[in-house]
Amino acid sequence: MKEAIFEFKYKVYNSINELPQEQQWLLQEARDVTGQAYAPYSNFQVGAVAKLVNGELVAGSNQENASFPVGLCAERVLLAAASSVFPKIPIETMAISYKSDSQKSDHPISPCGICRQSLQEFESRVGHPVQLILGGMEGPVYVIDSASRLLPLAFTSEELK
Ligand code: THU
Repeated sequence: MKEAIFEFKYKVYNSINELPQEQQWLLQEARDVTGQAYAPYSNFQVGAVAKLVNGELVAGSNQENASFPVGLCAERVLLAAASSVFPKIPIETMAISYKSDSQKSDHPISPCGICRQSLQEFESRVGHPVQLILGGMEGPVYVIDSASRLLPLAFTSEELK
């Protein structure tokens, strides 16, 4: 028997102002895109904006439904849009932000488990990592070099070959 350790490094910035210019801009876009969310049930609006390697921008926001499980997270709305409009083009960076009617948006949120699974497979099928920029409307910002870092020991498409 041996014990295995999983660890990864990510960057923690005190605020958006410490980020390189282009990352600041992308996170601000994600903040703005929270305004496109349809979240009347949770009152938690999430915005995501991605820059593709070809320079194109794609946005996503959470889209809820009276039948709650039908709702989609911002990240998967974005991935579906990117794959549909720019098939097979890798995402370079995805910024994710949020606002809420009931709590301050002053710390980063990170993608839910289902979105982590989707992000992992997106990375693997286009052969390129998705860098994540995670931040609220204010407060610290995390930069993670690859979304797959958030899903250790993932179940992947390799198992179905
Ligand atoms: N949500 C996202 O869009 N992305 C996340 O990373 C976490 C949660 C959405 C789903 C739901 O519409 C609302 O936020 C509350 O969970």
